[in-house]
Amino acid sequence: MKGIVLAGGSGTRLRPLTGALSKHLLPVYDKPMLYYPLSVLMLAGVRDILMITTPEHAGMFRGLLGDGTQLGMRLEYTTQAEPNGIAEALLIGADFTGDDQVALVLGDNLFHGPRFTKILDDSISELDGCALFGYRVTDPQRYAVGEIDVAGRLRSLEEKPAHPRSDLAITGLYMYDNDVVGIAKNLAPSARGELEITDVNRAYLAQGRARLTELGRGFAWLDMGTHESLLHAGQYVQLLEQRQGVRIACVEEVALNRGFITPEQCRRLGAGMPGTYGAYVEEIAARHLSASAA
Ligand code: DAU
Repeated sequence: MKGIVLAGGSGTRLRPLTGALSKHLLPVYDKPMLYYPLSVLMLAGVRDILMITTPEHAGMFRGLLGDGTQLGMRLEYTTQAEPNGIAEALLIGADFTGDDQVALVLGDNLFHGPRFTKILDDSISELDGCALFGYRVTDPQRYAVGEIDVAGRLRSLEEKPAHPRSDLAITGLYMYDNDVVGIAKNLAPSARGELEITDVNRAYLAQGRARLTELGRGFAWLDMGTHESLLHAGQYVQLLEQRQGVRIACVEEVALNRGFITPEQCRRLGAGMPGTYGAYVEEIAARHLSASAA
């Protein structure tokens, strides 16, 4: 499976924070926002990832993560000229995806919760069409909203409905089989002029091939697109990290756990970063080394 992180868009809701910087590079407590969605694809075992950015910010993204070899990954970069809609990412990434399946994640989404790796692994191994992830919220009208029947099957999908049929928001993580490129090619822009990801998902729903996994109440799903939600995300990460002594979305740790890099490679990454984050990466590596020596 290939991965795409969509990190374009104008970030107007976060002005003036985004006057000079991409939203996706803003700090969310101890790391750039981008690390959170990127680590989701890594947790899913995806090593080939295309980052889609705005033309003006592309260099900064490349400067942050390079070609990904230090994480045992292959990172490519391309740009979206204008924010023409989330589904445009599938067209921009069509050559990159090739004949593969593809997971798309929005650059401002944070996921954290128990057994997430297993949920992702199961979704990939059972993928037939499209896999969506739902989350119950108090403000569903801000998102795509799914309606499920008594058996838990998806019945309808609507983008930002004024009168939502349920409180089940569709999160910004989508997995697709290779038909998705053909589906995206046939999309027409919506009334707001965007190629809508919800129209892609509805095409799969019409074929009876859209599956929804609900992320339960022990889960955190946050989008970081407003001043308030950005702060909340940072506070959430800080609280958990300080209480538990673990780091959320530490890409070096995920790369190690997923076997993308060896403990020794991980140790070197930590040693190259002064400060508490680097010390944590070194400590994780040391733990792996002593566990494998035992
Ligand atoms: O967060 C989940 C929601 O994301 C879904 O429930 C909705 O169905 C989906 O439309 C989307 O809604 P948003 O209103 O949050 O989309 P927004 O325009 O804020 O864009 C989300 C991210 O995608 C953001 O990081 C910017 C990026 N983006 C967006 C568009 C439209 C791009 O890079 N290019 C684009 O053209």
